[in-house]
Amino acid sequence: MRSDSAVEQASARIIAAANDRAKRPTIAGFFDESTFTVSYVVHDAATNEAAIIDSVLDYEAASGRTSYGSANRIIEYINSKNLKVIWLIETHAHADHLSAAPYLQQKLGGKLAIGKDIIRVQDVFGKMFNAGSEFERDGSQFDHLFEDGETFKIGELEGLAIHVPGHTPADMAYIIGDAAFVGDTIFMPDFGTARADFPGGDPRQLYRSIRRLLSLPRETRLFLCHDYKAPGRDEYAWETTVGEERDHNIHVKDGTTEDAFVEMRRSRDKTLSMPNLILPSVQVNMRAGRLPDPEDNGVSYIKIPVNAV
Ligand SMILES: [Fe+2]
Repeated sequence: MRSDSAVEQASARIIAAANDRAKRPTIAGFFDESTFTVSYVVHDAATNEAAIIDSVLDYEAASGRTSYGSANRIIEYINSKNLKVIWLIETHAHADHLSAAPYLQQKLGGKLAIGKDIIRVQDVFGKMFNAGSEFERDGSQFDHLFEDGETFKIGELEGLAIHVPGHTPADMAYIIGDAAFVGDTIFMPDFGTARADFPGGDPRQLYRSIRRLLSLPRETRLFLCHDYKAPGRDEYAWETTVGEERDHNIHVKDGTTEDAFVEMRRSRDKTLSMPNLILPSVQVNMRAGRLPDPEDNGVSYIKIPVNAV
């Protein structure tokens, strides 16, 4: 891990560069209403190089069928704008939807990347699903593992990966120009924050990760991984700013202590049921979005551990 001050300097440089409008990314959000997930295409207008963040593979639990409606919408957008995909980035191993990154990579190219602590998530879920020794727990299913404080390029735009654990041990946020893709850390100010009760989750870490994100300049645009609406709001929304969150977030606005946050998060998490697709999602996403190897009849199977989660 790089020191906090090195990461702060890198984020300050990247956001300052974005004061130059030409260095601001162009961003399109794609909302999947069945899992409340937002996928993003981020591109550099100068070169048309692009990254796809947190794509969704459609999955019908009752039939075990996958389909590509959500992913194909992204492909159409990429093709209509003539973009060249450089990165397929995951903020974390999602528990509520399957990733379409391998499908998109096959169609569009690009390098598939996630945070390097995915190896800890692979270890936990590899054991939970008794995945066997053919399931490598070293992150090798991905093309690249980001470290905290690592910089990367999308055309002339500079990006910075930062480690924001708490929801899971491996969550990353990505600052690109004046925008930050914060994954499952913070949600819209009227909805609050992500749960921290999955295996390896930690509300104290989540608080610290969120405060780290909220130390970015107030005008930094934040792009969220999910929205569930909120009481009194009829429209889905997934973009806000650091300033809005600091002033209004119902769970973590300025003045909220770490202990108060942890207590709120623990009691709220006890009331939440598991996401509908958690079992298929984690088995597929721990494999970088690939289905388990087919058995000798050519069919891939997803396991259900009984009384284990
Ligand atoms: Fe998540």
